[in-house]
Amino acid sequence: MPADDVLLEIEDLRTHFLMDDGVVCAVDGVDLKVRKGETLAIVGESGCGKSVMARSILRLVDPPGQIEGGKITLHRESGPVELVGADTKLLRQVRWNDIAMVFQEPMASLSLVHTIGSQIVEAVRLHDNVGKTEARKRAIEMLDRVGIPMPHRRVDAYPFELSGGMRQRAVIAMALSCRPSLLIADEPTTALDVTTQAQILELLRDLQDEFGMAIMLITHDLGVAAQVADSMAVMYLGRVVEYGTAEQVLAAPRHPYAQALLRSMPRLGRARQRRLTAIKGMVPAPYARPDGCFFHPRCDHVVAGRCDAVEPRLLQVGDRQVSCLLYEEEDV
Ligand SMILES: Nc1ncnc2c1ncn2[C@@H]1O[C@H](COP(=O)(O)OP(=O)(O)O)[C@@H](O)[C@H]1O
Ligand SMILES: [Mg+2]
Repeated sequence: MPADDVLLEIEDLRTHFLMDDGVVCAVDGVDLKVRKGETLAIVGESGCGKSVMARSILRLVDPPGQIEGGKITLHRESGPVELVGADTKLLRQVRWNDIAMVFQEPMASLSLVHTIGSQIVEAVRLHDNVGKTEARKRAIEMLDRVGIPMPHRRVDAYPFELSGGMRQRAVIAMALSCRPSLLIADEPTTALDVTTQAQILELLRDLQDEFGMAIMLITHDLGVAAQVADSMAVMYLGRVVEYGTAEQVLAAPRHPYAQALLRSMPRLGRARQRRLTAIKGMVPAPYARPDGCFFHPRCDHVVAGRCDAVEPRLLQVGDRQVSCLLYEEEDV
């Protein structure tokens, strides 16, 4: 893959929460790339660090969370910029203009006391030096584009006057109003019913074609990821354990955690004939990380004396990257 294809590069990112009773290593050495125009799905059980990783990119982690190390490079057309350690001025430019974020709960992005239209107008005017009338026209166009009926009337509605699905559409309209090259969507459909969820996913896919942006889609639901992802990263306890094309990972996961995650998913066609099996055990408490491979206490393929002692690295295994000692000899 040529280097100029990469839009965002995350290297050894570590984001920790310094709590009274210890350190929670929410993100503990993540390496990832997002390529221009692709959809990268980040999947994994709740608590594995997906949201903290995503929020670290835009430095939206709340204290006591702190980026402890690593690099996040955004490759703009004008050249690369480094986001860890970036000053407020650069970060303000990057947010919205280069990278926009949509959360599970649309109200997290909307103000209660302003109309939908005035919030989009503000976003548009942050980006482009246009007058209020032109910005309002664009807001109406964007609301129309995201499938909100009667946009010329809804533009003056307050968020509480819209349904959950319509609110999420409005948030997407706002996020895209500055034409970002990357949209980070953190569980954007989790709070919605299944029909609305499918509509929003389809909308994201259409908008991606139209605007040519990359999407980082964060979801605990492999079924959602399967519908839209080009690439897929499986996270466990703050680390990426498998990373490849969505097709490869879904068809033949190689990391035992990715395999178990896939077996636990009811909605994927491949799993339909098989019995669903829950992943055994629980995600360990954040302060009690196992030695060796973090997954070994729950792993069906654990090798005593090795997996509980040696930390695996993310290695190239055939067509993808896997972090599991079972494959260390295959490393090329
Ligand atoms: N504000 C916080 N204070 C302390 N720990 C936190 C905070 N936010 C997240 N964490 C911890 O970071 C880890 C990763 O959380 P998160 O990124 O939200 O997981 P995911 O999005 O994959 O469900 C969890 O162990 C969680 O408890
Ligand atoms: Mg989350």
